[in-house]
Amino acid sequence: MSSPLAIHGGPPVVRSAAPQVPWPPVDINTAVAVTAQLYSAVSVPGRTGIVAELESRLAEFFGVRRAVVTSSGTAALHSAYSALGLTDGDEVIVPAYTAHPTATPLFHLRAKPVLVDCDELGNIDPLQVEAAITPFTKAIVVTHLWGVPARVEALADIAERHGIRLVEDGSHAHGAAVGGRRVGTFGHIAAFSMGGAKPLSAGEGGFVLTDDDDLYYRVLLHSQDGGRCRSEIPIDHPLRRYVVTGTGLAHRMHPLAAALALGQLNELDRRLGGRRQLAAHMISELRGLPGISVPEVPARSAPAWYALALLHRPEDLGGLPVDALIAALRAEGCLEVDHPRAPRPLNEHPLFDAPNRLFPNLPEGWPRYRAGQYPRSERRHRNTLTITVPHDDPELVEGYVRAFRKVITHHRTLIGPDP
Ligand SMILES: Cc1ncc(COP(=O)(O)O)c(C=O)c1O
Repeated sequence: MSSPLAIHGGPPVVRSAAPQVPWPPVDINTAVAVTAQLYSAVSVPGRTGIVAELESRLAEFFGVRRAVVTSSGTAALHSAYSALGLTDGDEVIVPAYTAHPTATPLFHLRAKPVLVDCDELGNIDPLQVEAAITPFTKAIVVTHLWGVPARVEALADIAERHGIRLVEDGSHAHGAAVGGRRVGTFGHIAAFSMGGAKPLSAGEGGFVLTDDDDLYYRVLLHSQDGGRCRSEIPIDHPLRRYVVTGTGLAHRMHPLAAALALGQLNELDRRLGGRRQLAAHMISELRGLPGISVPEVPARSAPAWYALALLHRPEDLGGLPVDALIAALRAEGCLEVDHPRAPRPLNEHPLFDAPNRLFPNLPEGWPRYRAGQYPRSERRHRNTLTITVPHDDPELVEGYVRAFRKVITHHRTLIGPDP
């Protein structure tokens, strides 16, 4: 520990190159599956082939009746909100602290996002949700931030007592569970992203889950091809006459992305097991270090660890700014440590303060949000640093733990002399 910090010219603790946690993992099986799809079909507009295979496997994995794959998580959320019939004058309770696509599709439907602050894990706080319900509330949306399950049983109970819908944005939390039940199955409908390095990744993509046939047909009408709608929506369904056009949007998933996702899904539980072990190890090693708080996850929750989000406590490190801490860690070779720009408190986005230049005809009484209105989310966001958790690299994790200890031990050298 006596060597100087790498940021001051000392030797770095971790020496592996970026990306240190490549995700999604791509092996020869992935390459074979995607190549085979390339030669079999690159357009699958119906519920056939790789699309049917992936949807059936998703439904089985989550234990739900219906799954629909989409081009993105945003498209999945848009389809879910549209299926619920959310529209002018409806209020939808949304986490203040989430990625903006959790809420932005509501602007397109003219349903008002009502932001609610977070709890001690960064997820929407059920007590504040209950306080925000009005006669106009039609739905509650929950994100399981960074893959740590929200208090979704309490939210399901609130939704039931008030006769409103619960929507899960599971984009960070594929395979996470509460009491052995996977998140994405607690609400009336769930939407997931499979974009980028999400726990289940298709590169780009998303899906919707529901047990409700009517919601399923409406998701199809919002997102899928006319031929598929015609072959699946019953003759006596009230919206059957719209099968050719649906709402006119095309949110289908690309078959090559579906082939990538199917291979990832078959490995997901095994990889999440590895991640959970390494995240638990990192948490136990970092707990108690000055200046850092680790997430205290309830025993019944099994996170997906999209990232391990730590809270920086600058007051315990002589006011050391989070960016200086991260720069020092990255210099030590912790290349998967970040101060994320998204998710971010939604009230800090110009769209949530002054939407009219992009959406000129929003209904009367559209809410406007300003920085400072959601103190818990804003404080949390300012002080969050994330670590991408590997599923199979304990050596990297050991290196990160040593680097955190080194940087925190030497933190005073990162703070300039008093003026
Ligand atoms: C919580 C959350 N919801 C929705 C989305 C949107 O997903 P996509 O980028 O696939 O449209 C994201 C993307 O990062 C997200 O983090």
